[in-house]
Amino acid sequence: MTVDRPPMGWNSWNTFGPGVNEKLIKETCDLMVSSGLRDAGYEYVVIDDLWSLKERDPETGRLVPDPSKFPGGMKTLSDYVHSKGMKLGIYSCAGTMTCGSQPGSYEYEFTDARCFAEWGIDFLKYDYCYKPAFEWGELLYRRMGLALANSGRDILFSACSWGDDGTSSWINTTGAHMWRSTHDLLDSWELLKKRISEQLKMLSSGGQNCFNDMDMLIAGMNGKGHVGVCACTPVQYRTHFAFWALCGAPLFIGCDISACGDETLNLLKNAVLISINQDRACCRPFTIGGFRNCRTGTDEQRFVLARFLDNGDIAVGMFNLSDERCRMFFHLSELGLSRVCGVKLTMTDCFSGQELSSGCGQFVQDIGAGDCRVYRCRIAQE
Ligand code: GLA
Repeated sequence: MTVDRPPMGWNSWNTFGPGVNEKLIKETCDLMVSSGLRDAGYEYVVIDDLWSLKERDPETGRLVPDPSKFPGGMKTLSDYVHSKGMKLGIYSCAGTMTCGSQPGSYEYEFTDARCFAEWGIDFLKYDYCYKPAFEWGELLYRRMGLALANSGRDILFSACSWGDDGTSSWINTTGAHMWRSTHDLLDSWELLKKRISEQLKMLSSGGQNCFNDMDMLIAGMNGKGHVGVCACTPVQYRTHFAFWALCGAPLFIGCDISACGDETLNLLKNAVLISINQDRACCRPFTIGGFRNCRTGTDEQRFVLARFLDNGDIAVGMFNLSDERCRMFFHLSELGLSRVCGVKLTMTDCFSGQELSSGCGQFVQDIGAGDCRVYRCRIAQE
């Protein structure tokens, strides 16, 4: 199975934790259609941990969906999700138990992959708790990768070993289509800033068929739900979403879509940011520019990211994660232009839709605390 764009969808964990059930999945699916999220590109609805009974079926060895949560079983549910033009994801774990202490897939990889295929599952998130100490993580991920590839169905393999045990050095060998590079992101600005600075050191680690998963989105959680520690502000959520989008990370919504409100929905559906995220060239982003008129001024809190796009456009994001308003800049030469090359940039602001002209030297903007500007830039004749 080839996965050539960052996968997009919704995952139950951030908001609902152990409270996942059939009704929630169906309602979320309906809402994703009626709110326009499906048409914006979000196609997977993922059931995270705690969907199964504590014991496997003693005769078949199969996992059993908890009938009090999923009374209709998984096949009926996947039929429903497919009838809405969406895809269904499920969760298991490379260890003996999941992180929520349900049975894991260790030594049942081929049984589970076949079972998921029969249920019409399209996506497997595969966690890393309770791994026997004598086993190598890479072998366990390879085993499930092989099992899925031979399950008779296209099932996207979403590895979730949090970047532990040198994941980045072996994940590409396992057949995983996306891989979690971090531990869990909570709804907290302090943690989000930490994650962003870690990701700045990993800009080359994503790409086609093995996308770097920076974890589910916290945008719109507003302090509520399972990982809702303390709400971020709308500006901070916007910065979060823009960074994920610009880096080409998988986009999995983590908030309650029924309660997140129009501001969040409009952010999650931002067509220009999604076009950058889903760009078919999947070029890696790179840092340019800086702040306060100092070429070496880029730091983990104030940085400018750029990314070449398939049609010759360039995405540029100016990020100020610090607590103070800041004057930020980049020079067009850093993008491959020169003063005499006869072209400049027409820059469309992803949030306001406003068009600016770059001029041909330095481009300067004042960016508020925790805020960002992202532009989709096209080359224009001078
Ligand atoms: C781990 C994962 C989370 C979530 C939980 C479920 O912590 O990193 O994303 O799946 O397990 O228990």
